[in-house]
Amino acid sequence: MQSDRLSVVVTQRLPEPVERRMCELFDTKLREHDSPMSREEMLASIQKADVLVPTLTDKIDAGLIAQAGDRLKLIANYGAGVDHIDVHTARQRGILVSNTPGVLTDDTADMTMALILAVTRRIPEGLATMQSGEWEGWSPTALLGGRIAGRRLGILGMGRIGQGVARRAAAFGMEVHYHNRHRLRSETEEEYQATYWESLDQMVARMDVISVNCPHTPATFHLMNARRLKLMKPEAVIVNTSRGEVIDENALTRMLRSREIAGAGLDVYEHGTDVNPRLRALKNVVLLPHMGSATIEGRIEMGEKVLLNIKTFDDGHRPPDQVVPSML
Ligand code: DGY
Repeated sequence: MQSDRLSVVVTQRLPEPVERRMCELFDTKLREHDSPMSREEMLASIQKADVLVPTLTDKIDAGLIAQAGDRLKLIANYGAGVDHIDVHTARQRGILVSNTPGVLTDDTADMTMALILAVTRRIPEGLATMQSGEWEGWSPTALLGGRIAGRRLGILGMGRIGQGVARRAAAFGMEVHYHNRHRLRSETEEEYQATYWESLDQMVARMDVISVNCPHTPATFHLMNARRLKLMKPEAVIVNTSRGEVIDENALTRMLRSREIAGAGLDVYEHGTDVNPRLRALKNVVLLPHMGSATIEGRIEMGEKVLLNIKTFDDGHRPPDQVVPSML
């Protein structure tokens, strides 16, 4: 018997309260195990569902969208970044796309500060010393890092997360600088005591810490390319909690190896889980497995946003977090 409830396919396991509510509201097909769907599984899903709930590990490209069934009307992404979805093609086919902005701002900004501190204060080396059982006690010269207060932080991308980083960094006594497509209002600049740089090159050349907080779009792909990375001061460090594609990972690895750049804290990688082994082997890096938004609160709130987007659509309105190509 055909149900009159929306048919929703979720491509990965979500926190239990989100899955439960999804099943209460819609005719939901949940994922049974915690691995991404194969292309074939994805294809089968978009041919029979009204709504697809993918995550950032699902590639929803033009080829896949071309084969979507007529029923598919909404791609309600579980996540803020939509660089894995061909939003243009979806729009041409009359399929709406929504995301989950705003609810992972604080968690991601916290993780950015954690990476800045981990790299500059050599926290993983301290942990390794303790775990090896070789600690010989306090010494005036052991494991000296650098003080972050007074250092110049250059934020690349001053959206919600960039501003969250600015607020935290200012509280830590850092000097806040930023580059963004649009200059912020003067009241906002004053709030963070932030200096705007129209020229990214000029900002990069003068900073002690660079934080990548812009989304990955065709315009930001390899924004930190080899030429720009070379502008960084040799004692500077770079952190990235946004998307790996914004940095040329091979060029960064070369420069970290040759100490042209002092260190890096990365939560995201250019080729997903396929992380350059030379990068993994370096001592002057702190690498995390894309866990910037990984708090239970954040992940439940992301789920609530997905539910709200689908429910609002089901009630005949535009999903509140609809993504349109002009926003990208
Ligand atoms: C997102 O939502 O795009 C984040 O990268 C998830 O951590």
